[in-house]
Amino acid sequence: MTTAQTCPVAFPLRAPGRPFPPPEYTDFRAQGGLVRSALPNGVPVWLVTRHDDVRAVLTDARISSNPSHPGFPKAAKTGGVPSQDEVPGWFVALDPPEHGRFRKTLIPEFTVRRVREMRPAIEQIVHERIDAMLAAGNTADLIADFALSVPSLVISSLLGVPNADRDFFETKTRVLVTLTSTDEERTAASKALLRYLNRLITVKEKRPGDDLISRLMAGGTLSKQEVSGVSMLLLIAGHETTANNIGLGVVTLLSNPRWIGDERAVEELLRYYSVADLVCFRVAVEDVEIGGQLIKAGEGIIPLVAAANHDGTVFDRPDEFDPGRSARSHVAFGYGVHQCLGQNLVRVEMDIAYRALFERIPTLELAVPVEELPLKYDGVLYGLHELPVRWQ
Ligand code: HEM
Repeated sequence: MTTAQTCPVAFPLRAPGRPFPPPEYTDFRAQGGLVRSALPNGVPVWLVTRHDDVRAVLTDARISSNPSHPGFPKAAKTGGVPSQDEVPGWFVALDPPEHGRFRKTLIPEFTVRRVREMRPAIEQIVHERIDAMLAAGNTADLIADFALSVPSLVISSLLGVPNADRDFFETKTRVLVTLTSTDEERTAASKALLRYLNRLITVKEKRPGDDLISRLMAGGTLSKQEVSGVSMLLLIAGHETTANNIGLGVVTLLSNPRWIGDERAVEELLRYYSVADLVCFRVAVEDVEIGGQLIKAGEGIIPLVAAANHDGTVFDRPDEFDPGRSARSHVAFGYGVHQCLGQNLVRVEMDIAYRALFERIPTLELAVPVEELPLKYDGVLYGLHELPVRWQ
């Protein structure tokens, strides 16, 4: 067993002009996998970078997702994962067995079969977005006009959240996923979203619709407050994540056109970008050894999924985009009991989005040099702020 390193590495290792994933991840994996880092609030945390160690962290019952445990890491300067007092039903922050009640209720809504049934509705949303871009001229910001709007419309129509309120919930979400947001901004955004969803749920209680929120209310396994929190989690998780992956994927496919239309590209794009690198937060509730390193009870842990997905012992030439490889063992969706609930939906959304976009706009190209694209260094999620494109 090794002892803690004394020189903490900077967090979160992202900065303008720097590649992603940060090249230091390779050094960390070579040096033992676990490194000590300091969070923006000065509190130390373990960064975990090897594929097998990341999976070990995400499946160890002595390691908790619940932010009410002392030492739970906060990625931002102030705020972090909400507790059940702040957002009841935010079940990604619950451990088994409590977590299981939520997961069991929601799983049937996101099975491969259910998502397959949603295909025509998703296709319609995608084509309407492309129609709107084509009608507006021959340039667009592909993030606002497509990559963000598609998953946002998909998740809001699944939940039964009115499309007209997109601006509202997208703006509030942005505050919550930005690392530089203050406590005040974060609390205000979170409260506004919860208030909004509570009002919506009250309406649906009286007049249920054919939507997920109405089904959760009718199911009776979750309280009204919990349905609000679950809806908030799904609304937030359901659009920003996928939007970042769709946007980055378009850039990569434009420079690798032979993979356009090949369904293997989706899995490799999920691995290659691993946009949710800073999403899994944990704390040890007992002493535990991971990768030969003692982690003491009360110490925070961040398993870095981008580092795991670029581990050369699992993925040959990990920094190359190669859909021909088998990328299935990637951990872009996490691993263990909290593995992404929306993953089947993501795969279908990405597949439809790329197919339709390149089929209908075959002359699509970047409107600025790739080096000038504004990448997100200030977000919990990696991605692009904007993606200027044009076509003939
Ligand atoms: C490219 C898109 C996405 C990526 C990369 C992604 C990534 C992740 C990751 C890494 C986790 C694990 C968090 C943890 O262990 O702490 C997670 C959990 C989760 N994701 Fe996603 N996600 C994506 C899209 C979605 C979508 C579209 C939805 C909703 C429809 C969604 C809903 C959830 C939920 C509810 C959880 C918590 C599951 C649980 O705790 O049981 N995600 N996601």
